[in-house]
Amino acid sequence: QKLKLSLEQIEKSGYEHFMLKEIFEQPKSVHDTMRGRLLVDEGVIKMAGIWDHIEKFKNANRIIIIACGTSWHAGLIGEYLIEEYARIPVEVEYASEFRYRNPIITDKDVVIAISQSGETADTMAALKLAKEKGAFIYGICNVVDSSIARITDAGSYTHAGPEIGVASTKAFTAQLTILSLIALKLGKHNGNLGNADFMSLIAELDAIPKKIEDVLSSTHELVQNIAKDFVDATNFLYLGRGYNYPAALEGALKLKEISYIHAEGYPAAEMKHGPIALIDENMPIVIIAPKKGHYDKIVSNVQEIKARKGKVIAVVNRGDTQVSEMSDYVIEIPETSECFSPIVASVPLQLLAYYIAVYRGANVDQPRNLAKSVTVE
Ligand code: G6P
Repeated sequence: QKLKLSLEQIEKSGYEHFMLKEIFEQPKSVHDTMRGRLLVDEGVIKMAGIWDHIEKFKNANRIIIIACGTSWHAGLIGEYLIEEYARIPVEVEYASEFRYRNPIITDKDVVIAISQSGETADTMAALKLAKEKGAFIYGICNVVDSSIARITDAGSYTHAGPEIGVASTKAFTAQLTILSLIALKLGKHNGNLGNADFMSLIAELDAIPKKIEDVLSSTHELVQNIAKDFVDATNFLYLGRGYNYPAALEGALKLKEISYIHAEGYPAAEMKHGPIALIDENMPIVIIAPKKGHYDKIVSNVQEIKARKGKVIAVVNRGDTQVSEMSDYVIEIPETSECFSPIVASVPLQLLAYYIAVYRGANVDQPRNLAKSVTVE
């Protein structure tokens, strides 16, 4: 037992939990995922899995992304990315729904499964179904040689390294990195993304690891202090628009998973169709409000919340004034292209969930009732 403990301590490299270690590994894991693929100087994205089957992607009627949990959130952002840059229609489905609803699938469909473990039973079954119906099946997995990686026709690994904490962090940002690479590569190839835009987007993507590093060092202490004020919260709302709507879903999921506080993510504009009824002085609301991407709309959402005395924790870009002035807590992150902002904005939300859970005395690496990899239905 003693030996096991010390081995574990070594594995945690000085961090109190695997989850915190993995949050802090993200500058490296995102970089590792891009390594050898994103060649900024040459203006090229190299991905053999895509390139070897480029005709399949070019001729696809649509792309269907299937996944569960956090990977499904990455899939939603993948939809925005691929539709915006490659102009290929994308649908995103929970694997568990897809497999049982008799979906229409043809040999003109490309089905992409996203799975950290590569072992999730529902995702595996959904893929098998798609394969039987003749679709081309592609995997985005983190665990090398996992079951999903083996049954797919092709794929791209996220090179995030082993993720031990049950709540996914670095695997998620690595999935977003892969999906960004795929969307930009397909868009460049099929002519929907012009060279100048492609070049500026890849330069921006290349800068993301540095921006994550910046967020980690500039917000770590601040987020710890914010977390202290919410240890006794019973509910949380997370709001975002556009690319940051799925980031809001993921922020809420992180908090639920490890702190056991009920949290819901919503597209900010949907607030008025329900959640607004819950807002009073006891409701904390995390708002993701970077400058690029529906900022003015978010400003009015914050006004609506403040009119009902909700407590706003805003994630904004450095130098922001409008949302910041109305908010109770402000977390500043560096600016980036709208499509990559969920990668950067997710980091302080991971830290917030982590510290709230730690202060509540929860077992963050092994939350009750949850498993790292769900290999049964
Ligand atoms: C479990 C894990 C989540 C994960 C989900 C999907 O619920 O606790 O963190 O997002 O499964 O797992 P996968 O390995 O397929 O990404």
